[in-house]
Amino acid sequence: MRLIQLSDIHLTASYTKLVRGSNPLKNFKLALQEVISYCPDILLITGDICHDESKGGYLQCQKALEVIPNSVELAVIAGNHDNPTLMKQIFDRRIIVGPSELNYDNARVLILCSHFSNHDEGRLGVEQLDWLKERVFDRRYRGKPLLIALHHQPLKVGDKFWDSIGLIDSSQLIEILKPIDELKAVIFGHMHQHWRGELPGRKDVQLLASPSTLCSFPAIQPCPLGKPDTSGARLIEIDKQGNFNQKLLRWE
Ligand SMILES: [Fe+2]
Repeated sequence: MRLIQLSDIHLTASYTKLVRGSNPLKNFKLALQEVISYCPDILLITGDICHDESKGGYLQCQKALEVIPNSVELAVIAGNHDNPTLMKQIFDRRIIVGPSELNYDNARVLILCSHFSNHDEGRLGVEQLDWLKERVFDRRYRGKPLLIALHHQPLKVGDKFWDSIGLIDSSQLIEILKPIDELKAVIFGHMHQHWRGELPGRKDVQLLASPSTLCSFPAIQPCPLGKPDTSGARLIEIDKQGNFNQKLLRWE
C-alpha cells in the first residue's frame, strides 16, 4: 500500500485570496501534481481543508481533486478549521470523510475526526474512542499492519504553542493504541511542519507530522531535507511483507 498524506491546505471560497501570504488553491494544485507523480493507492488529506469553513472552499477542493486518477482512493479528515458536517454534505461519494476504516490487501488505515467545534484543540470523544477500540481489537485483522491518521498531534511535542492546542483526550488514545501489535504509525497534520516521535512505551510505532501545502510554521525539529519552509507532504508505504517505510517530500 502506498499512501500520500497532504495536510493543512487551507482553501477559501475565493480563487485569489492569500492566506498567510500564499495562494492556497495554487499551492494545492501544485501538490496534486506531485501526488500524481508518485502513483499512490490512496491520497489522504489530514485536515484544515477549508480555512473559512465555506461551501465554496470545499467545492474548490473537490474540483481540484478531479485531476487525481480514478484508481487513487481519496480520503479526508476534518481539522480545527473545518466544518465536518459541511464536508459530508458537499463532497461526492468518491471522497471518503473520516472517521472511517480503509482496508487494503496488506494494510488497514483508520482515519479519525479530531475536530472539536469552536476550539483549536482537538478531541476524539468517547463515542469515537469506543469505535476505535472496537476496530483495533477486531481479531479478523490480526497481523495486518495498521496506520492511524488524525489532524491533531496525539501527544505533547515540547512546544508551548502547539502543546496548548493539541489533542485533549490524547492519553485515552495512547492507552488504546499502546497494546496494538499491528500498529506501525500515527500520522497527523495541524503543526505545518515535519515532526517525528514515538508512541510512549512503543519505540516501534512512529508518530509523524506532515508539512502543510500552504505554509510552514517554525520548525521544532530540523527538517531532514534542509527545507523547513517549503511545501511538503509524506509518502508512506507498507510492502507485502508488512514492512513500514516513510519519506518526507518537499517541493518549491
Ligand atoms: Fe490545524
